[in-house]
Amino acid sequence: MSDTPPIPRIELAHTPTPILKLERLSARLGVELWVKRDDLTGLLESGNKVRKLEFLIGEALAQNADTLITCGTLQSNCCRTVAAVSARLGLRAVLALKGVKPAAYDGNLLLDRMLGAELHYCTDEEWAKIDDVLAALEARERSRGRRPYVIPESGATVVGALGYMACAREIFQQTKHGAPDFDTIVITAFSGGSQAGLLMGKQLTGLRAQIISVAVAWDADEVRRYVSGIMEQAARRYHLRVAPPADIPVLDGYQGAGRGRVGEDTLAVVTQLARTEGIVLDPVYTAKAFQGLVAELSRAPRQFGERVCFIHTGGIFSLFPFRAELSRLLDGESLVEWPHA
Ligand SMILES: Cc1ncc(COP(=O)(O)O)c(C=O)c1O
Repeated sequence: MSDTPPIPRIELAHTPTPILKLERLSARLGVELWVKRDDLTGLLESGNKVRKLEFLIGEALAQNADTLITCGTLQSNCCRTVAAVSARLGLRAVLALKGVKPAAYDGNLLLDRMLGAELHYCTDEEWAKIDDVLAALEARERSRGRRPYVIPESGATVVGALGYMACAREIFQQTKHGAPDFDTIVITAFSGGSQAGLLMGKQLTGLRAQIISVAVAWDADEVRRYVSGIMEQAARRYHLRVAPPADIPVLDGYQGAGRGRVGEDTLAVVTQLARTEGIVLDPVYTAKAFQGLVAELSRAPRQFGERVCFIHTGGIFSLFPFRAELSRLLDGESLVEWPHA
């Protein structure tokens, strides 16, 4: 029997999420391509964040917190998920958002307001010192007699990564009950926290698939450093038998013009997948990663083996602020063929 205390966790996600084959795209690419629908984890379609928050809020509640403080862009999926879970659990949410208050709310920001979160808009100078802003908000809450818990951007901590460790266990169980034994699992990387969690789960369960991420904001080496650091922290903090692999596979070059900037080619990928398979990606994260994966598979269909599974990590609401660009695209040129396939 282990003498390590159990890791605090609350149940939030609707799991196991389904794994579906992309029939038409697989035929077109010449490789079996599947999707794990982590966009369906529930709690306002909160995708990967709700898995992370099972552990982050588990820890917050174990510390008796009554207020969650976090930060992100105006269209942050993580901030909106924190707002949704806070409303669900009767906690306060305080969000520090990068940017100015728009004339009309849209997408995730609209939901943040509806869900009753307190919003702080940060200038670029404030955002450059976001840790100080979060510390000031935390101190302010304490001075008012509240018990705050701070979640860094994207839930990017060793605690948040445990959510995808649990997801890898879930996939392992699904493969024991009829899901394919994938050669490769592909996930979007902002920080790489989700990839770190999957790698830990792989090492702990013996899941066979290699775990690849596609960097959509940071460059690949930065993601690799983050993933290694999280795995080392997890080994120390939770006494888990995990260690960063010598080679952490991260696909580079698909960041486009940076986070929040979305090219027409990426919006075309969102549209093509919607039309081919009835699945909608978000333009900022999953579409860039999926675009990268399709570009790679078009070049060399079997480079990741015969069965590849892309984890759809959610983010649907950030589609709507791109309504003008999408309208132009949809009413303009024909979108019959995949841009990269
Ligand atoms: C929809 C979506 N997918 C993937 C990610 C990337 O998560 P991570 O920071 O764990 O790499 C994010 C995080 O911001 C996200 O919002």
